[in-house]
Amino acid sequence: MISLGGVSKVYEGAYEVHALRDVHLEIEAGEYVAVMGPSGSGKSTLMNIIGCLDRPTSGSYVLDGREVAGLSDDQLAQVRNQVIGFVFQTFNLLARQTALRNVELPMVYRGASPAERRRRALEVLEQVGLADRVHHRPTQLSGGQQQRVAVARALVGQPAFVLADEPTGNLDSRSGQEVMTIFGRLNRAGITILLVTHDERIAAHAKRVIRLMDGRIVSDERNPEPLDPETELQRLVSQPAAGAVASAGAGGGSA
Ligand SMILES: Nc1ncnc2c1ncn2[C@@H]1O[C@H](COP(=O)(O)OP(=O)(O)O)[C@@H](O)[C@H]1O
Ligand SMILES: [Mg+2]
Repeated sequence: MISLGGVSKVYEGAYEVHALRDVHLEIEAGEYVAVMGPSGSGKSTLMNIIGCLDRPTSGSYVLDGREVAGLSDDQLAQVRNQVIGFVFQTFNLLARQTALRNVELPMVYRGASPAERRRRALEVLEQVGLADRVHHRPTQLSGGQQQRVAVARALVGQPAFVLADEPTGNLDSRSGQEVMTIFGRLNRAGITILLVTHDERIAAHAKRVIRLMDGRIVSDERNPEPLDPETELQRLVSQPAAGAVASAGAGGGSA
């Protein structure tokens, strides 16, 4: 589905930055891949190229059998719209619009009818557990809820794959785990997931982990036993908060 052949990316400026160097990568439909690596190693650059937000300086990128490295901006935007859903660390929601409107918006660009947009947006908002928050604005939602709106927005166009750049980076562990639970479900439904994370525990949900260093892939390993997101979520929910443990101990002592 995704095939990078000798992809390099050089940013020109006061001096050249070689963000990606000769990257070869094949990702099949239905995979669940985590990309890790230190800050500046090229993770976002890789995601942007795979997501058709940017082009390689050299090398080839074949997506679904089609060379996209040479496409025009308009053509890239079209590919993006048809097959890719994005989730970002900072949610990138429109602050003055309701959850429903935020999720409907990508469908406006696709020319769906108002009734169809509404039906589809409500459906994906329900999928991410926000059926009772559709008329809230981002400021009236928690970070975790905002990220779930962003996931719904990514899903509304029925993408073949979801690209997420540090989707849990701004979330507390429980909210992050709720997002991972949704990704797990999507992957089971056949959607390809590619996510960037700094967190080993988040990466451990993926079936494959790729590590970048200085713009090169330095390891690419299968994870034979990915974490089950529902089990992890249960563990977090049942774990009392640190403060609660302390007071329970004190209460036990005085009884
Ligand atoms: N638009 C840009 N212009 C110039 N340099 C950039 C740009 N985007 C990223 N870089 C540089 O490319 C390298 C890789 O960046 P990035 O892909 O954002 O890494 P990561 O996401 O792993 O932190 C870094 O050295 C970064 O400073
Ligand atoms: Mg980055």
